[in-house]
Amino acid sequence: MRHVAVLGATKGMGRSVARALVERGDAVVVMGRSLDEAERSVQDLLARGVPGSKVVAVECDLEKPEGFRRALDEAAQALGTLDTVVVTAGIFATQDQLEEDPALAAKVLTVDFSNTVLFCEEARKLLLGRGGGTLCVFSSVAGDRGRKPVVLYGAAKAGLSAYLEGLDHKFRAQGLVTVCVKPGFVKTGMTEGLKPPPFAGDPDDVARVVVQAIDDGTPVVYAPGVWRAVMTAIRAMPRFVMRRVGF
Ligand SMILES: NC(=O)c1ccc[n+]([C@@H]2O[C@H](COP(=O)([O-])OP(=O)(O)OC[C@H]3O[C@@H](n4cnc5c(N)ncnc54)[C@H](OP(=O)(O)O)[C@@H]3O)[C@@H](O)[C@H]2O)c1
Repeated sequence: MRHVAVLGATKGMGRSVARALVERGDAVVVMGRSLDEAERSVQDLLARGVPGSKVVAVECDLEKPEGFRRALDEAAQALGTLDTVVVTAGIFATQDQLEEDPALAAKVLTVDFSNTVLFCEEARKLLLGRGGGTLCVFSSVAGDRGRKPVVLYGAAKAGLSAYLEGLDHKFRAQGLVTVCVKPGFVKTGMTEGLKPPPFAGDPDDVARVVVQAIDDGTPVVYAPGVWRAVMTAIRAMPRFVMRRVGF
């Protein structure tokens, strides 16, 4: 049985991951920027969990790094221990919106890169302090290549993926297992209104892949799995070909 904090469990893929964990009997802390929203998610999860499930809410806002350590300590205290931390929280805006609005661009870069890394640093210290654990963080296929539709969002995710790879190399031998999740296009609130490409995924399918990756300690996982093959082809594509096809 795992003791898991999920930052981002109130919506989308985070909600599906939290559900999958609770349904198999893990203890879960729903971390969210709104305590009311997190508490509503807890009620929903308790209704689905095995009898006696432990599910609690803790406030944590990715825009407020000064609260990260307190939130993680609170989560560990609520469950008695914390062996797994999952970060699905993140924000998205289109490239056009980000080019037009520097304040929004700063927010996306800060939330999706700098503050996510700072949160992971606190989680790393907490997990290593108890002898190890698993840190599972949602990056994106958008970080695998620089592309016209996601220049800024993709750059934040590329930085996050690189950080997670470094963390895994540095700390796995000490017991910190890092899992970097790279979803392709998944139908959630984040992608509402965007035209789904072929292979658009479902949050519950992603959750199944992610929970397995957490249990196996897989360092990088594409979800849904078809995106591994898609991204192998895209990563191998020469830059002049990308330019020619307008990718
Ligand atoms: N959907 C896709 O196609 C796709 C593809 C690749 C990568 N990803 C990545 O996968 C992750 C999950 O995406 P999703 O589609 O499940 O997104 P989503 O449905 O929009 O959910 C995002 C979650 O992040 C939380 N969040 C946003 N800002 C926050 C903040 N400042 N502090 C704390 N929590 C905050 C939201 O909380 P509230 O309930 O408070 O809003 C919500 O729980 C993200 O990192 C995203 O970049 C998504």
